[in-house]
Amino acid sequence: MKKIIVLGGTGFVGARVCEKLIREGWQVTVPTRRRSNATNIMHLPSLTVLELDLHDEAALAGAVAGHDALVNLVAILHGDQAAFEHVHVALPKKIARACLAGGVAQVVHISALGADSLQPEKSPSMYLRSKGEGEAVLLQAAAGGGAGAAAHKGFDLSILRPSVIFGEGDKFLNLFAKLQKVFPLMPLAGAATRFQPVWVQDVASAVVACLKGANGQASPRIIELAGPDVYTLKEIVQLAAQISGVAGGLGRPVIALPTWAGRLQATLIGLAPGQPLMSVDNLDSMKIDNVASGKLPGLASLGITASALKPIAQQYLVRT
Ligand SMILES: NC(=O)c1ccc[n+]([C@@H]2O[C@H](COP(=O)([O-])OP(=O)(O)OC[C@H]3O[C@@H](n4cnc5c(N)ncnc54)[C@H](OP(=O)(O)O)[C@@H]3O)[C@@H](O)[C@H]2O)c1
Repeated sequence: MKKIIVLGGTGFVGARVCEKLIREGWQVTVPTRRRSNATNIMHLPSLTVLELDLHDEAALAGAVAGHDALVNLVAILHGDQAAFEHVHVALPKKIARACLAGGVAQVVHISALGADSLQPEKSPSMYLRSKGEGEAVLLQAAAGGGAGAAAHKGFDLSILRPSVIFGEGDKFLNLFAKLQKVFPLMPLAGAATRFQPVWVQDVASAVVACLKGANGQASPRIIELAGPDVYTLKEIVQLAAQISGVAGGLGRPVIALPTWAGRLQATLIGLAPGQPLMSVDNLDSMKIDNVASGKLPGLASLGITASALKPIAQQYLVRT
């Protein structure tokens, strides 16, 4: 049985990835910061949960050694420059070194649409810049190199760049539906930004397809994961209300906020304790559309037909 370690395997996408990998006959290891975060996957057969600090390089290398493949789904959406650097750049450096030392043959790294490994500094937000830098780190390691005793042969690398991901338990359509159940109006920043939502099961299928050879696409491969339909953020908010039946399916009036008001809103939200719903950095990410460039292969290159949002969202959004 081939062994795979899935970093971030307890998360929204990670749990689906673990389920599919197990169905494909992999033996799966999932490191987590807290065992209690893994209750959603603990029941799965052929899966071992490890409580581990991934940022402790020696501990990470010890956990990675002996696996044939690694999937990295660890990411944060909010934080300061140092936090993004720590999770999206420093961690991939440690992952790369652990994979090279441990002889891991295949790596699948989940990035995001809008990340740019060639010119990360040109991306509009800390999130996207750090995602691009993380990609660059892995691309360099995958290529192998060095001379003499330091020579190493690299690894097979797939970088997946999804647009916003929907599916049961998402923090996206569910959030917009919930907000409209509570508030009479939807003041919305970035209302005109376009997205190409992709189904979580299609993302998980893409991970598996990459591990099975990516339909013969040469390594390293960067694949854009996007659904069949493009929506503005405003349309997505309205769709969430329509499907969940808020105000008889009409939803709340959406007030598109000008940039300054959006930034003020995000700053105020960021002052509240806990994980913010929205940050100024999120708004910066929305300065560019979140749709496939069309210059890179997509789901179809892996033999996957992208699923449409509406029929799936109708199955999991709770109707009021
Ligand atoms: N969801 C989307 O719409 C979307 C869109 C584009 C790209 N993506 C990308 O897809 C990947 C998976 O996203 P997701 O929505 O499944 O994320 P998620 O649900 O937030 O899961 C991320 C996982 O990473 C681990 N993690 C988070 N912060 C960490 C930290 N500081 N140190 C170590 N581990 C940490 C957590 O594991 P433990 O709690 O078990 O430690 C968590 O289960 C990410 O790379 C994300 O950027 C997601």
